[in-house]
Amino acid sequence: MQLDVLVKGGILPDGLQRDIAIAGGKIVAIEPNMKALARETVDAAGCLVSPPFVDAHFHMDATLSYGIPRINASGTLLEGITLWGELKPLLTHEAVMERALAYCDWAVSMGLLAIRSHVDICDDRLLAVEALLEVKKKVASYLDLQLVAFPQDGFYRSQSAEANTLRALDLGVDVVGGIPHFERTMEEGRRSIRALCEIAAQRGLRVDLHCDETDDPLSRHIETLAAETLRLKLAGRVAGSHLTSMHSMDNYYVTKLLPLVAEAGVAAIPNPLINIVIQGRHDTYPKRRGMTRVPEMLNSGITVAFGQDCVLDPWYPLGTADMLDVAFMGLHVAQMTSPADMRRCFDLVTSAPAAIMGLEDYGLKKGATASLVVLQASNPVEAIRLRATRLAVISKGKIVARTAALTTELQVPDRAKTVDRRHSVPRDKGTAY
Ligand code: FE2
Repeated sequence: MQLDVLVKGGILPDGLQRDIAIAGGKIVAIEPNMKALARETVDAAGCLVSPPFVDAHFHMDATLSYGIPRINASGTLLEGITLWGELKPLLTHEAVMERALAYCDWAVSMGLLAIRSHVDICDDRLLAVEALLEVKKKVASYLDLQLVAFPQDGFYRSQSAEANTLRALDLGVDVVGGIPHFERTMEEGRRSIRALCEIAAQRGLRVDLHCDETDDPLSRHIETLAAETLRLKLAGRVAGSHLTSMHSMDNYYVTKLLPLVAEAGVAAIPNPLINIVIQGRHDTYPKRRGMTRVPEMLNSGITVAFGQDCVLDPWYPLGTADMLDVAFMGLHVAQMTSPADMRRCFDLVTSAPAAIMGLEDYGLKKGATASLVVLQASNPVEAIRLRATRLAVISKGKIVARTAALTTELQVPDRAKTVDRRHSVPRDKGTAY
């Protein structure tokens, strides 16, 4: 069989060295030392070959708008929302598209090939919805963009949000979003969860709510989200994003909450870069980390993915579309430094968000969609440590990006050489990678 692409000599995340044969947009074989003809060959000898990065939480309507019309001086979530409210009337279809497409370029160059983006539906023009639906179509051949109808100003607090949510879903937005902690009262927040889950159940859609994105230990909308998921039999289709209040909750209460979330089949999407800079802003010292309880949730059997949330927008002044940055920060903030936990952090930006988004045919296996990344690292943990260069990115069977290997020529006395930052870690019984 004539192959489209043959990826030679790569190391899979499980440590096996294999060649990967690609034809017709699919992985047709994964075997050692294949002898086959291909139109293009990628030399991946000694390099990690991974399924693509996936970001299950992003805001593509706001990305790359940092500084327009001003910056967020306090750094808080609430000033970010106010600032976004100032920017919204200034948005144009063209500008939203241009910034979103520029971000998609960055994403592809970083091997980030699937993104779930919330899109604010509180602007009655639905301008951002229409722009991102157009972007979604434009990038579909190489990037999977899933859109969430997000009532940024509150499903009940904003007058037209309820109607606009339905309008956005009718236009083709994929997922039902919400923001219960931003409604006027705890009770309105609870009612919004009930209404939003019912919309999803009626339409056969997924749910992803910004949930308890606050330092308030009594913000407990995740409990309602889990209960509604059970009531409406939505297991596997619901995610709670952020869940930062859980960081501050009473420990006894959390021992009751986590089994409920696991039983309901609700996934969690913390966003380490944002949570660590936005939460705890009202604290003096000690200052709370403000990220939810990731290791505890994983140990309870809850699906967890790390999301990026923001890049250069009213909430976050940095970011590069690099999910390894996200994993690196998440690993630190959650203190996940055992070999097994570090390895797990790689899954939290690849296979876990793919499962939450319901991506079919994801992964490095025969018959799967031929999307993968070749990294300048020998294993997943080293990839996180180095924020490794993405040497080649293949999407749906085609090479879509190449980056030259990072090399540094040292010029100090007696040490003139090429610096190699890779470092083999001795394997022992406790080393999982
Ligand atoms: Fe968000």
